[in-house]
Amino acid sequence: MERHTGGKKVCVRKRRWGWILAVLYLCFICGGLSVHASEPAVTPAVLERSCMDCHDWEKICRKLDRKSYGAWMRTVKRMVNKHAADISPFGPAEVARYLSQPGEELLGRCSTR
Ligand code: HEC
Repeated sequence: MERHTGGKKVCVRKRRWGWILAVLYLCFICGGLSVHASEPAVTPAVLERSCMDCHDWEKICRKLDRKSYGAWMRTVKRMVNKHAADISPFGPAEVARYLSQPGEELLGRCSTR
């Protein structure tokens, strides 16, 4: 019996969370759209500034198709924490995403090294 009411409670709580999540999700989408319009994006110039004090393009370019998002995340975090790489105003997640899904701009930069 106790179990039963307990289960019910969870159910109600879950439903409430569902609503909160739905609202948060909408905020996220709207926020995401305006962020995309106004915030700067990671570009090769950012990597040039943040990473090339210590590396050449070669080091990063040859790993572009080898590292997953998670692997880049670990690398970028290590560069920031251990080697004090300055990736501001970006977070490691943004830089890792950029490196794990390199766009034409970055691939172009790598092929004209
Ligand atoms: C202050 C110097 C410094 C900066 C800035 C720096 N790194 Fe590094 N990086 C190192 C050193 C030292 C190593 C070798 C030791 C290690 O792996 O921790 C390394 C290793 C690496 C490696 C090879 C190891 C691996 O995990 O694949 C990659 C790739 C890399 N860095 C990418 C980057 C990127 C991308 C940035 C810019 C966001 C960056 N680094 C900024 C010093 C730096």
